Amino acid sequence: MLSTSPFRALEQGPELKAEDKLTTAIETEICSLENYLVLPDHTMDARIAAARQKLGSQAVILGHHYQRDEVIRFADFTGDSFKLAKISSKSDADYIVFCGVHFMAESADVLGRPGQQVILPDLNAGCSMADMAEIGQVEDCWEQLVKLGLTNDMGDGITPMTYMNSTAAIKAFCGERGGVVCTSSNAPGAFEWGFNKSPKVLFLPDQHLGRNTALAMGIPMSEMAVWDPFQIMGGNTPERLRKAKVILWKGHCSVHQRFLPEHVDKVRAKHPGIQVVVHPECRWEVCQKADAIGSTERLIEVITNAPRGTKFAVGTEIHLVNRMGKQFADQDKMVITLDDSGCLCTTMFRISPQHLCWALENLVEGNVVNRIKVDDDVKHWARVALDRMLEIKVDHVPAAAAMVAASGRLQD
Ligand code: 13P
Ligand code: SF4
Repeated sequence: MLSTSPFRALEQGPELKAEDKLTTAIETEICSLENYLVLPDHTMDARIAAARQKLGSQAVILGHHYQRDEVIRFADFTGDSFKLAKISSKSDADYIVFCGVHFMAESADVLGRPGQQVILPDLNAGCSMADMAEIGQVEDCWEQLVKLGLTNDMGDGITPMTYMNSTAAIKAFCGERGGVVCTSSNAPGAFEWGFNKSPKVLFLPDQHLGRNTALAMGIPMSEMAVWDPFQIMGGNTPERLRKAKVILWKGHCSVHQRFLPEHVDKVRAKHPGIQVVVHPECRWEVCQKADAIGSTERLIEVITNAPRGTKFAVGTEIHLVNRMGKQFADQDKMVITLDDSGCLCTTMFRISPQHLCWALENLVEGNVVNRIKVDDDVKHWARVALDRMLEIKVDHVPAAAAMVAASGRLQD
């Protein structure tokens, strides 16, 4: 029978007898991911814990709040994308094991010190929103805005700003043109930063975060344009673009976009007095009905600070909502999802205990698997944009009330 330790053959050292070679080949093969994927979740716990312990301070495991319980329980630090980027930028560990999605691991690599290696346990853990803006499309858009005379190439007329949920190449694009990265924690601060530099902002790739933030700042819809990368001039007239203070890229989060205003009405009718709290990746029609809006970290904070017995319907990824439901039950707080059908981020879900175990056990043996490495030419400007982001203080997108106050100017 084959050993349950994928490294038993390696542990035998170099003095293997010739007749053992076939066995070695077979047992080395156990190191491959396929051999982990057939094992049940519960068999992973002890192995992950053992590998984690062996790695000691050499490794740090970061876990985004949307990770499943079987994975996040092993994180040394949990957080939203802003908090995790901050932690990774200060980490001394040789290996940063990022239980999150690709753009987060890329950012950790950009912010990491030389020699540090970032690992994404499953390379398929991408982000559909990040995929909605490709660098070539962004360059085309910029070229057209320059041609229209709305900015020069260095961003003197428009500050390019990208949400963390984008490729490193887009972050670098923004950095090189005087722009910045933001997360859902500090988007209002980043907008203010941008408007201090230039009269217009190009916001990539999440139209909803961009719109919600701009509305909260009192910018009316009539001063916003949406850039559709599949249409000529983004589907706008030159006049529309000239008038716009904010140009929103036509991207969205497929998870948060599923929350609808009728979900808010339904949950309020069913649970009178319930507080509706949502992530700013939700559409404006949902945000304007909410009692509070915030990044994942902020949503947790709102629920933590609420008095005993408060009821919440939360518009964000289902794993975080379910976890809070259990965590706050002993304080008599009810935490349920805003949409009964449950919004799951399938790419966050890609990181399984098996992937984590495989990555850690390989590290124990000195094999770095699934390393995320950003090209050096992209790294420089991406780092400039990310460093600017880390300087901007975390703000909370004002609650719906502030947005409603702006609604007098909402119509085109
Ligand atoms: P935050 O981590 O900023 O809350 O964003 C949520 C998200 O969708 C991450 O992909
Ligand atoms: Fe991307 Fe949405 Fe998943 Fe976040 S929740 S990783 S934005 S698809």
